[in-house]
Amino acid sequence: MNEQRYAGRVAVVTGAGSGIGQAVARQLAAEGAMVLACDIDAAGLASTVELIEKDGYTATTVTADITRQADVDALIDALPERRVDLLANVAGVMDHFLPVTELDDDTWEHVLAVNLTGPMRLCRAVLPLMRAQGSGAVVNVSSIGGLTGAVAGTAYVASKHGLIGLTRSIANLYAEDGIRANTVCPAGVETNIGRTAAPKVPWAYQRLEKSFGRTTRMAVPAEVSTLVCWLGSPEAVNVNGATITSDGGWTS
Ligand SMILES: NC(=O)c1ccc[n+]([C@@H]2O[C@H](COP(=O)([O-])OP(=O)(O)OC[C@H]3O[C@@H](n4cnc5c(N)ncnc54)[C@H](O)[C@@H]3O)[C@@H](O)[C@H]2O)c1
Repeated sequence: MNEQRYAGRVAVVTGAGSGIGQAVARQLAAEGAMVLACDIDAAGLASTVELIEKDGYTATTVTADITRQADVDALIDALPERRVDLLANVAGVMDHFLPVTELDDDTWEHVLAVNLTGPMRLCRAVLPLMRAQGSGAVVNVSSIGGLTGAVAGTAYVASKHGLIGLTRSIANLYAEDGIRANTVCPAGVETNIGRTAAPKVPWAYQRLEKSFGRTTRMAVPAEVSTLVCWLGSPEAVNVNGATITSDGGWTS
């Protein structure tokens, strides 16, 4: 690994206040990127900056709710310069494993807003800058729930399948502008996503649990960030529109 492969590059990371997004922000800063770390959770962002500074690097933070257009606009205004080399859409929430028959509108709308509409808003804001500079990479963090219905509730599964479609559309439409877009699909990772994962409908969870036996191991966030950072770097110049699992073999 080239430890300075992001030297002089600007990276926007959502969900940077915890888990995988925090690990991505930390790795990018260590590899030389100017990191704009975004999260709805200001305290989480502060802990990320503390880690990055302890490592000997810096990052800029923006507290933003990616579901709100005004917050996305403010995020773009906070860019250290009018360029973005990597957009890593990592922020996401679970859906309490709700099956469609028990799914309330609020959960559906919130999960779709954070996991799919938010990344779309970020892409819509950042792609014009990438087109103008003639290069750029988007890495969207989906889930194996983007490939199978067997790991979460209906809203999460639908949002994560949709995120793969968003990524493929960008890969197809903007390749000629020098822009790449790829999706990473993790399985179990030790993070704080459990906040939105407490099962609410026992029968549905019991059915889903039958597939959880396929989990080979729990990953740590740095094991996923390494793939995100590689995909966003020039080393992955020929990888565009790919959907890559980081699941310890779950989907094998
Ligand atoms: N942990 C896993 O097992 C796992 C598995 C597959 C996929 N993923 C995906 O990985 C991504 C990162 O999740 P994680 O496991 O690190 O979880 P996490 O809860 O540790 O981190 C998610 C971050 O997203 C932020 N966030 C939530 N809503 C937001 C909003 N509206 N605006 C801005 N930020 C918001 C949270 O504050 C949090 O800091 C998610 O997209 C998740 O779906 C996680």
